Amino acid sequence: MLTISAIKADVGSIGGHTRPSQRMMEAARSQLAAATERGLITDFDVTHCGDDICLLMVHRHGNDNADVHNFAWDVFSAATAIAQEEGLYGAGQDLLKDAPSGNVRGAGPGAAEISFDETAKDRPAEPFLIFTADKCGPGAFNFPLWTVFTSPLYNAGLMLGKMKAGFRFTVIDMEYAGADRVIELESPEQHIDLAILLRDENRFGIKSIFSRKYPNQQVVAVSTDRLHTIAGEYKGKDDPVCVMRTQGIFPAPEEAVSPYFTAHYVAGDARGSHHMPMMPAPINTAITSAYCIPLVACMAYSVTRKGKLSEGVDVFGNPVWDATRLKAQLKADEMRRQGFVGPAMLPMQELEYSAFRDSLAELESRFQIVDKPGAK
Ligand code: 13P
Ligand code: MG
Ligand code: MG
Repeated sequence: MLTISAIKADVGSIGGHTRPSQRMMEAARSQLAAATERGLITDFDVTHCGDDICLLMVHRHGNDNADVHNFAWDVFSAATAIAQEEGLYGAGQDLLKDAPSGNVRGAGPGAAEISFDETAKDRPAEPFLIFTADKCGPGAFNFPLWTVFTSPLYNAGLMLGKMKAGFRFTVIDMEYAGADRVIELESPEQHIDLAILLRDENRFGIKSIFSRKYPNQQVVAVSTDRLHTIAGEYKGKDDPVCVMRTQGIFPAPEEAVSPYFTAHYVAGDARGSHHMPMMPAPINTAITSAYCIPLVACMAYSVTRKGKLSEGVDVFGNPVWDATRLKAQLKADEMRRQGFVGPAMLPMQELEYSAFRDSLAELESRFQIVDKPGAK
């Protein structure tokens, strides 16, 4: 068995919420190289999307492994120490506990993991994608994942025999703190039920997707922990990571990225409080746009049966995505022209977790109840 673990966290960034420093990235890289050397992991890559560092680790210890998760925590702690030394903003932002209890989930960092039998006949090769996104929540993946796995309009591959039987989705209630509150739904029969839930990207998110024809084969994992359900208050956005295996019995990468042409609006952005379009961006891009246009990066890799990674291909780091980037910028411009009004900002219940709560509470306390004219 091989496991792909993608664990990400924001532990500090330069001049605001832009990107981690080179020293932080190098420290993470050298620690993962040492872990490969001593055999904890078989291979790795370290990237960032905006201010979030993503540790990609391949290993043989399965999902939710304490050694791997504690190690990831230690790497983020070392990067935090550098951020502190360099006076960076939000040093240690996503490390919400003193130490994780053997798992980073519930302690701040986001984790997406898939384990699979690397010798299975259904998978003669193992290509996969890592999507990392900044300035948005895990629900930002609802639209692209629903479309790729339920709609032939976005993925004609669904008409092929290996995918026609559909997929099994686990959807999680991200507002439920502590345990996981989940529901399983199957496409194609229940794709409308899925839509009913997934339209609320702040509350419901896709946690995992499995093949129905090959029931042991997991195709998608998404980090679905929300920082405010851990901390009870706004601690930055829950910038998510998604692992997606591709090709053969699964969608091809070119199908998997097709919904990103839309530059769909997502919740997040400046202060995690607005709606803005999602812009596909090259890996290792800093956040510098007005109101923090959310960025999504996508890296394509292959992994051998021995757990060795190929070099990565930067899927959105290519001129073919320039038109979409321009579209996202124009959509952002349109939304920002209406300032704070209506859909430009998040609904009040989402702002409840932010510092806007205090400004609201102060005004609420000054409301008066006045009798309607003519009322007895
Ligand atoms: P991050 O969650 O990426 O740290 O961004 C926080 C924020 O409020 C940006 O305006
Ligand atoms: Mg930040
Ligand atoms: Mg971030």
